[in-house]
Amino acid sequence: MAAVISASGLSRHYGELKAVDQVSLEVEEGSLFGLLGPNGSGKTTMIRMLTGQVRPTSGSAHVLGIDVVANSVQVRQQIGIIPEQETPPSFLTAEEYLAFVGSIRKIPAVQEKADWWFDFLEFSDKRDVLCKDLSRGTRQKLMFAQAFLHRPVLALIDEPLINFDPVMQKTVKGYLKEYVRDGGTIFLSTHILEIAEEICSDVAIIHKGRLVHTGPVAGILGQQQHLADFFLEAVGKGSHA
Ligand SMILES: Nc1ncnc2c1ncn2[C@@H]1O[C@H](COP(=O)(O)OP(=O)(O)OP(=O)(O)O)[C@@H](O)[C@H]1O
Ligand SMILES: [Mg+2]
Repeated sequence: MAAVISASGLSRHYGELKAVDQVSLEVEEGSLFGLLGPNGSGKTTMIRMLTGQVRPTSGSAHVLGIDVVANSVQVRQQIGIIPEQETPPSFLTAEEYLAFVGSIRKIPAVQEKADWWFDFLEFSDKRDVLCKDLSRGTRQKLMFAQAFLHRPVLALIDEPLINFDPVMQKTVKGYLKEYVRDGGTIFLSTHILEIAEEICSDVAIIHKGRLVHTGPVAGILGQQQHLADFFLEAVGKGSHA
């Protein structure tokens, strides 16, 4: 299997702070890869570097074989992104926003695809509402739809499920599982370890910017350990730490 994400010694420093410190990892095609870590451990910074939004201080990364520093625009054209806590433009309606994304990404039959998303995520009744007047969860639905509207082969999504109710979490988990079954790859950060345990094929754990674990979830569960217990031990907060 080919690596669709490959990072080598990737670091981002802010003054003295090593937000991400010498992280090397590979994400294989068809995996549902979860990036876990405590608040401030560097997950968002990692995703921003892999999507060409933040320049690494040192190290390198290739996404779909493309150098994210030298060719960040090319990377962003090919992938789907849900940035952390991003909201769609306040002055557009939900429908206008998806049309806007469709025109920038040159997506054929965008109206049809947008209709599918309104229907699938159950917010057709909000299509004509200005984004500023949407609830937080509905804005998140819109951000989810924009990331997958062009059916990218790879999506990097930063805490995508946090604002969803249990019904919507189930819908979205189902979508992500099917998406990787169809050959797509997902790289997601999350604090919801039950969800990571349920849907991720592989996880990486970062702590204070350093990679402390990477490997298949099956390996962790095979040791009869829940991901949550494993996580707490990995970040030094477990009962045996
Ligand atoms: N632009 C910036 N300038 C200065 N420090 C930053 C900047 N961006 C991130 N940091 C710092 O880098 C560290 C890692 O932040 P990051 O947002 O990547 O963490 P995270 O793992 O995504 O946390 P959370 O789980 O809370 O979302 C934090 O200490 C943060 O304050
Ligand atoms: Mg974050």
